[in-house]
Formats: sequence, structure tokens, C-alpha cells
Amino acid sequence: MFSLEGKIAVITGGGSGIGKAIAILFAKQGATVHIIELNAEAAEETVIEIQQNKGQARGHSCDVSNQNHVLDIFHQIGSVDILVNNAGIAHIGKAGTTSEVDFDKVFAVNVKGAYNALFAAIPLLKESKSPVILNMASIAAVVGITDRFAYSMSKGAIYAMTMSVARDYLEDGIRCNSISPARVHTPFVDGFISKNYAGQEEEVFEKLSKSQPIGRMGKPEEVAALALYLCAEESGFITGNDYPIDGGFIKLNN
Ligand SMILES: NC(=O)c1ccc[n+]([C@@H]2O[C@H](COP(=O)([O-])OP(=O)(O)OC[C@H]3O[C@@H](n4cnc5c(N)ncnc54)[C@H](O)[C@@H]3O)[C@@H](O)[C@H]2O)c1
Repeated sequence: MFSLEGKIAVITGGGSGIGKAIAILFAKQGATVHIIELNAEAAEETVIEIQQNKGQARGHSCDVSNQNHVLDIFHQIGSVDILVNNAGIAHIGKAGTTSEVDFDKVFAVNVKGAYNALFAAIPLLKESKSPVILNMASIAAVVGITDRFAYSMSKGAIYAMTMSVARDYLEDGIRCNSISPARVHTPFVDGFISKNYAGQEEEVFEKLSKSQPIGRMGKPEEVAALALYLCAEESGFITGNDYPIDGGFIKLNN
């Protein structure tokens, strides 16, 4: 079950955290993995790890917010069965404290970046026998989280985009779903804790762990396992849905 043998998977932000875990698992299941990454060095490290385990992978240095560059990379890749729109950045702030520059930056990477990859990949996905798109949303798309104004806006857009794409490409056989993780322990989380809560790292880490009723953060590999299911042919009856992976965050926090 869950074989991706013969499939070509493109994963944005596959150099770190959740995207890296997805890239490694998809390659293990037989996919040829293309990683689209801002951080070329991180992409290369994932590629080397995959190749050392006899998998197929290639890194592409690219900022997903640059449409021409994204189009160029997909043109080079040539054929796509699976697109995982995972690249994203965090931001802390409320509507009244988020600068225009920060708002535009979060929008450019998290929203326009996903659109750019969709725009470039859809013509190629239409040629695939079992095309599938997976978008990385967040519980912030559907729950009001303190100090996450721009980030929540961007993930709400991903949540809505998923349904729109799933609807529009039903006849082309393209399935499209999203995953909404609660806190997952990745460099993304460590990065925003050290940037925004310097000196209180341990305390904030503990607080963020406990905000999941299960009492801990998720692991990137746990998200990758759900991603594999949603991108494999076994989930062929699933489209237009969002899947929380949240340690009980949405329904058990009372
Ligand atoms: N970690 C969490 O708690 C959590 C929770 C919910 C949702 N998410 C979402 O999951 C996704 C992955 O998060 P993560 O925790 O693995 O993050 P991460 O920071 O560990 O990895 C993100 C990767 O995306 C790349 N990236 C950033 N901007 C880019 C750009 N403009 N172009 C190309 N690549 C770019 C980074 O270089 C990095 O390698 C993000 O969309 C994030 O919003 C994460």
C-alpha cells in the first residue's frame, strides 16, 4: 500500500521541517522528488539524504513568490503527478501591529507562492494519470490564535484555495486537499520562538507544547504520514477537504 513508484512529486519548502519529512518519505515510497527551495543548501542536504537511501531527488533553488522563476523550474521538471504546496513563513502580530511590509511578505510567500506553484503545475498535472495536490494550511485557518493575524489570513487563503481548486479540476481528475497541523516541532517553531521570545525559549516551548491537549507538539514525520495517504492512490475518493493533525487542538481545547 501507499506506493508512489513511478510518480513525480514536487515539494515546495522541502529543505526543512515538514517538507523535508514529506520529501524523504515520498522518495522512500518510490517517487522521484523535486524540492523547490529558497535555501539551496538545505534542499541539497535533503537531496543527499534521499540519494544515500537510494531514492531519487533533485533540488531547485527558487523563491516561490517569483512567478517567472517558478514557471521556469516547472518547465525544467516537465512532468508532475503530485504537488505539495508546503513552503511557508511565520509571523507574529495583530492587525494593529503588523506592518504593511510584513503583511505583503507573508502574503507573497504563503499565498502567492502557493498560487504560483498551482499556476505552473496544473497544466502538467492534467497530463498525469493520478494527479494530486496537497496544500499545507494550519489550524490557524479555522481557529482564532493570539498574535497570528497575517499568518492566519494566509492559511485561511490556503484553506479556501484548496476547495476552489478541487472543484475547478474535478473533471481533470485532479484531487486537491489540505492538511492543518497544530504546532509541529520544526526549525520554523524554534526560529520564531528565538526571534520573538528571546530569553524565554524554554518557557514558551513548554507553553506551545501544552497548547495541544495531547501535551506535546507534533512530529514532522507524523504530518508526512498523513501527506503520504492523501497523495497516494488509496485516498482516491478524497478531494476538497482539510485534514487537521492537531493533538486535539481544535475539538478538545476546553
Ligand atoms: N511547524 C508548525 O508548527 C506548523 C504548523 C502549521 C502549519 N505549518 C506550515 O507547514 C509548512 C512547513 O512548515 P515547517 O514548520 O516545516 O517550516 P520550516 O521553516 O522548517 O520549513 C519551511 C521551508 O520553506 C522554505 N521557504 C520559505 N520561504 C520560501 C520561499 N519564498 N520559497 C521557497 N521556499 C521557501 C524554507 O527555506 C524552509 O526550508 C509551512 O507552510 C507552515 O506554515 C507549520
